[in-house]
Amino acid sequence: MEYGVKDGSFQAAGGELGIFSLVEEFYCQMNSLEQAQKIRAMHPEDLTESIDKLASFLCGWLGGPKRYKEKYGSISIPRAHQHLKITPTEQHAWMLCMDKALQKTRYPKDFQEYLLIQLNIPASRCVNAQ
Ligand code: HEM
Repeated sequence: MEYGVKDGSFQAAGGELGIFSLVEEFYCQMNSLEQAQKIRAMHPEDLTESIDKLASFLCGWLGGPKRYKEKYGSISIPRAHQHLKITPTEQHAWMLCMDKALQKTRYPKDFQEYLLIQLNIPASRCVNAQ
């Protein structure tokens, strides 16, 4: 199955369960990495909803069921981050958490690299300050 074609990426990510554990690991990394403390502080203390929202979004974004839309309605990623001050430093911190989380998965290396490149596109669109 080709990544980015139909639900190829969703399947490679291990479906909904795989995506939820990736996002849990992503937030574990955000809790522990020193470079991520500024973006961690932008989130609520209880990350339950943040985990559910990001995992639900990624399900649809990777070609699987549109869980975010079902649960929370429509979303524009840049608009959802407008109230936050995001510079390239915050973008890189977010990507670092994702990189470390991906390294903890058993995803094939080429899929990890593919995801990092693809996720950097919406991440760069969240940047709203220098
Ligand atoms: C560029 C760096 C990013 C930073 C610093 C960041 C930070 C945050 C923060 C702090 C929240 C919680 C906002 C709140 O509770 O008020 C949030 C929500 C969210 N983020 Fe990000 N984010 C980034 C990139 C991304 C990317 C690339 C995606 C998607 C691929 C994403 C998807 C989401 C989603 C779906 C929510 C929930 C929005 C909602 O329902 O209100 N974020 N983000």
